[in-house]
Amino acid sequence: MIEPESAAEPDLSLPSAARVYDFLLGGGHNFAVDRAIAERIIQAVPTARETAVANRAFLGRAVRACLDRGCRQFLDLGSGIPTVEPVHEIAHRCDPSARIAYVDTDPVAVSISRDLLAGVDRATITAADLTDPEAVLSAPGVAGLLDPAEPTVVLAVSVLHYVGDDELVARLLDRYCSAFGPGSMLVFSHGSTDVDDPAAVTGTEGMLRLARDSGHPIVPRDRATLRRMTAGVDLLEPGLVDVSRWRVDDPDPGPVLGVYGLVGTVRGQSR
Ligand SMILES: C[S@@+](CC[C@H](N)C(=O)[O-])C[C@H]1O[C@@H](n2cnc3c(N)ncnc32)[C@H](O)[C@@H]1O
Repeated sequence: MIEPESAAEPDLSLPSAARVYDFLLGGGHNFAVDRAIAERIIQAVPTARETAVANRAFLGRAVRACLDRGCRQFLDLGSGIPTVEPVHEIAHRCDPSARIAYVDTDPVAVSISRDLLAGVDRATITAADLTDPEAVLSAPGVAGLLDPAEPTVVLAVSVLHYVGDDELVARLLDRYCSAFGPGSMLVFSHGSTDVDDPAAVTGTEGMLRLARDSGHPIVPRDRATLRRMTAGVDLLEPGLVDVSRWRVDDPDPGPVLGVYGLVGTVRGQSR
């Protein structure tokens, strides 16, 4: 494994988005301060756990769809703690030569990822902020692993709602998607307030307040804005839909959860 970047010292008295999400997923890599916020989120939004699980399941289905189309390189931005069906396990089951570069800002997520990836070939973790694409793309864990000429899957799953500026999000997506070879793909999910259930809207408002209070403000966006931001990709069926609806076999997938997902092929590239 290529040596990871060094991460900043974590302040364990503060909650972390990665560890709160890990708790919601049922993982064991979280602290009391994270669980306290997660419990308040669950009170505000009773479907919070279900939403985290559905988002993660979407990520798995999306990665398999990209593998089916021949992609073997993955750049996972805001990868979190890769315990529950992580990208490298899915990809390596399909093709052990697949290469996966994880990137996250959270020092604890980085440190746990480093432990989990010890002894795993062709998978790296880089401590970096995805809003600095040049730093991400030139980091040894990314540039030393991924061949820029190869088709690559850029994953921005449940992370860009932490970036407040719409224009910046669009620019970041364009930059990352254009950094790799023909046939590259985008896997994207993002929180939204496009839910028609009033209880869900009130719950979401409570959750947004908690996210703000915990130092990780979330900016939910509507479907039209998300499609504008991802205009550089052609969508695979079924398009930009709630993650609980993206290629699920279940004829009764339950309530809409308020997280949109898509998988697209980068436009203007032919193989
Ligand atoms: C909700 S988790 C999503 C994890 C994973 N992508 C998934 O969907 O299962 C969001 C992750 O994004 C990371 N994150 C937030 N802002 C970031 C940034 N600017 N650069 C890199 N990572 C970031 C957080 O530390 C956290 O691990």
